[in-house]
Amino acid sequence: MTESQESPSAVTESDANSSNASTNLSADVALSGLSKDFTGAAGQLSILRGVDLGLNRGDALAITGPSGSGKSTLLYIIGLLDEVTSGNVRVLGSNPASMSESELAKFRNEHIGFIFQDHHLLPQCTVLENVLIPLLAGKGVDDADEQRARDLLTRVGLAERVTHRPAQLSGGERQRVAVCRALINQPEILLADEPTGNLDRATADAVGDLLLELSREENVLLICVTHSVDLAGRFPNHMELRDGRLEPVV
Ligand SMILES: Nc1ncnc2c1ncn2[C@@H]1O[C@H](COP(=O)(O)OP(=O)(O)O)[C@@H](O)[C@H]1O
Ligand SMILES: [Mg+2]
Repeated sequence: MTESQESPSAVTESDANSSNASTNLSADVALSGLSKDFTGAAGQLSILRGVDLGLNRGDALAITGPSGSGKSTLLYIIGLLDEVTSGNVRVLGSNPASMSESELAKFRNEHIGFIFQDHHLLPQCTVLENVLIPLLAGKGVDDADEQRARDLLTRVGLAERVTHRPAQLSGGERQRVAVCRALINQPEILLADEPTGNLDRATADAVGDLLLELSREENVLLICVTHSVDLAGRFPNHMELRDGRLEPVV
């Protein structure tokens, strides 16, 4: 997937004089002046109000913030699952606003891995089959894919569990399967929304550390939304979403 690492040719919105590098739209994930409003029964809600962010492969960012501050919304925008109200978004050089629904789905499947609070494993499928599901939805599964799935499962300590069903696993083990499933397609970007939110503290720490280690090994750009200040503190970068803006946590 080397082509996706090429810089986009036109970076018209970048501002060479700005001290804020995040306005450079050539980053793998580039957000500039991003705003998101929701219109509901209670009127208009301004959830994101000028978010700037620039991240590249190898970066790992934890995002914390109060409940309802827009963390999931921000992650879904980066994951091309939601649209912005205004501002610029580039993901691996592509502008999601110019893509059709089917192009967005293909792009997500090829380039982005997702991990949610709930594992969303299919109960009727084995652990190995669950890891391979993103490929079944795309190019299909060959022997090399199955070997990669087994290698990932071995890497997360589940080599002996490949034929088990999700119900036979602990919560931490299920999330480790979800991590493998998110990585099976060798995505450039891994997005995790409260991935350890349903786990006890010790299990959460272990899954969080695994997520960080695997992202490093796979040279993935990792963005992880978490309630756990402890987990966030172990990330090389930690930002807080507050009042619609991302602020560095030092
Ligand atoms: N589709 C939607 N329509 C209307 N309001 C929404 C929608 N999605 C999220 N919101 C609102 O936006 C705010 C931020 O939600 P969310 O991103 O889920 O926050 P967080 O993940 O930080 O808890 C909340 O007030 C939520 O109710
Ligand atoms: Mg959320």
